[in-house]
Amino acid sequence: RTVYVNGDYLPENEAKVSIFDRGFLMADGVYEVTSVIDGKLIDFDGHAKRLERSLNELNMPHPISMDDLLKVHRELVRINEIEEGMIYLQITRGAPDDRDFVFPDPETTPCTIVLFTQNKPGLADSPAAKKGMKVISIEDQRWGRRDIKTVQLLYPSMGKMMAKAAGADDAWMVEDGAVTEGTSNNAYIVRGNTIITRQLSNDILHGITRAAVLRFAKEAQMTVEERAFTIEEAQGADEAFITSASTFVMPVVEIDGAALGDGTPGPVSARLREIYLDESR
Ligand code: PDD
Repeated sequence: RTVYVNGDYLPENEAKVSIFDRGFLMADGVYEVTSVIDGKLIDFDGHAKRLERSLNELNMPHPISMDDLLKVHRELVRINEIEEGMIYLQITRGAPDDRDFVFPDPETTPCTIVLFTQNKPGLADSPAAKKGMKVISIEDQRWGRRDIKTVQLLYPSMGKMMAKAAGADDAWMVEDGAVTEGTSNNAYIVRGNTIITRQLSNDILHGITRAAVLRFAKEAQMTVEERAFTIEEAQGADEAFITSASTFVMPVVEIDGAALGDGTPGPVSARLREIYLDESR
């Protein structure tokens, strides 16, 4: 695979980042994952805007213009011949001369930018979407600025492992009795023609797929309620699903061992997935 590091396109085994990089030492970095379907980037503008916001919130400089970033994305898709998959982008506060809690001067310590592709043939026709996912609930132990897409992914990673250990596919995190989101996705429940998902705040990542799916749901005459919900309410819902750039719309069929409906993906989730993929193509 050809990857991008600080202005250069290189074979992945030649790409290097310093051991003093603050992304490595302090998880001081932000990222984006943009999906590719039929060789096309999905919602690049949304991801670019969220990236700018993440950089601003952390007082990080903007090391590359959004136009140039788009060019790098397109170039990597072209060189690596990606039809279906993802592009991962990470920007960290760079590599100062030594480890120090104080932010380095951006004049002398430029940001580190890394991009690579992940080839996932068949992503859009994933059999997982026919089967649906099982989720467990876990306590949300992340920091309070989940609206910033930082690379501090240890707890979400542990959450995935807890889910696997319990024979499930993912975990929904719960804070003060209500679901925040999945380990790497936004969470939804469906009641009749109504889609319910937590309102935007610092408590969750403002999903780019979430924004698109809520727009499509409204266009399809569904009702959208942006509010918190509990695990008990979710277990009693008609359907549930998650959204993210890497899963699009993915049905959830079981929550903490309780099957939703007949335990198979529901019609609303399936329809939203279909609309999302159609609109993206
Ligand atoms: N995760 N919530 C969290 C905590 C996430 O990590 C993600 C994305 C989302 C969905 O956001 P979007 O629709 O913009 O992808 C919600 C990416 C895919 C990841 O970490 O791989």
